[in-house]
Amino acid sequence: MEKLSRHEKAQHLIKGITNLPTIPEITTRVAALLDNPDVELEEVADMILTDQVMASRVIKIVNSPLFKPMHEINSLKRALIYLGFRRIREIALTCSIIKAFEGKKGAFDIRVFWQHSFGVGIVSKIIAQRVRYPEIEKAYICGIVHDIGEVFLSNYLENEFQKIIDLISGTSHCFVDAEALMLGTTHCELGLCLAQKWNFPQEYCDVIEHHHAPENATLDPMLVAIVNLADLFCSVRQLDYGGREWVSFNLAEEKSWEILQSFSPNLSGLDVERFCFELDERVPEILDLVESIFEGLH
Ligand SMILES: [Fe+2]
Ligand SMILES: [Fe+2]
Repeated sequence: MEKLSRHEKAQHLIKGITNLPTIPEITTRVAALLDNPDVELEEVADMILTDQVMASRVIKIVNSPLFKPMHEINSLKRALIYLGFRRIREIALTCSIIKAFEGKKGAFDIRVFWQHSFGVGIVSKIIAQRVRYPEIEKAYICGIVHDIGEVFLSNYLENEFQKIIDLISGTSHCFVDAEALMLGTTHCELGLCLAQKWNFPQEYCDVIEHHHAPENATLDPMLVAIVNLADLFCSVRQLDYGGREWVSFNLAEEKSWEILQSFSPNLSGLDVERFCFELDERVPEILDLVESIFEGLH
């Protein structure tokens, strides 16, 4: 009952915003083009080139530490060959999401927010590889979009959101609880409403809705658990966007770890502390990636 009302409240808040960002048509067109098995690389390149910002972001992303090409790639066509069609769809979507929220001043620094989002994306990817989740790229993109509800709050309900930030600042409370208390809904339900509005795939919606309660995931609990763990990890490793002073986190005691173990029994032999250390080592790389995406574009 409570869940239903949170969802209704989120719908109501979103309906009240008339200038809600849209996912540009180009993304849907690129995605549709890539659905066609006979599509030619030229066609995809030409379409992406109609949006210069997207074209330059694709090139920045392909040269980022995440994809690590041997030599710098500076043409869009070579970037597309290097990345492959599946990744292009995901990158196009990522670029569009960033673009959709650009140019608006919100309650928090959007760059810090994307640092968190990309951090969660990259850590999700690493965890996905480790637990042998079959769709690594999906884990990456879901990590990036998991908190889109927060951007909505920061940009469109700035005053209310500032109060929430002030409330939890210096405490160990998290956004979800404070949001539920102050707004009667949270960034999870708000994000879900946005994702549905933008026709995101069902699995993405599932992650956005349940990333703070992976045990409630219905469609792909493994994917939701991966993003939940990545989110927790980033929250305690300077890849958070403010609020909490400290959060304790023991990966082995998390519910999502239990979920992952039920799908991937070989995890019980994993040295959790060492794994966290491995993830720690990737933090500078994550910060570099965000820099490379935003560099020169503002
Ligand atoms: Fe969240
Ligand atoms: Fe998050």
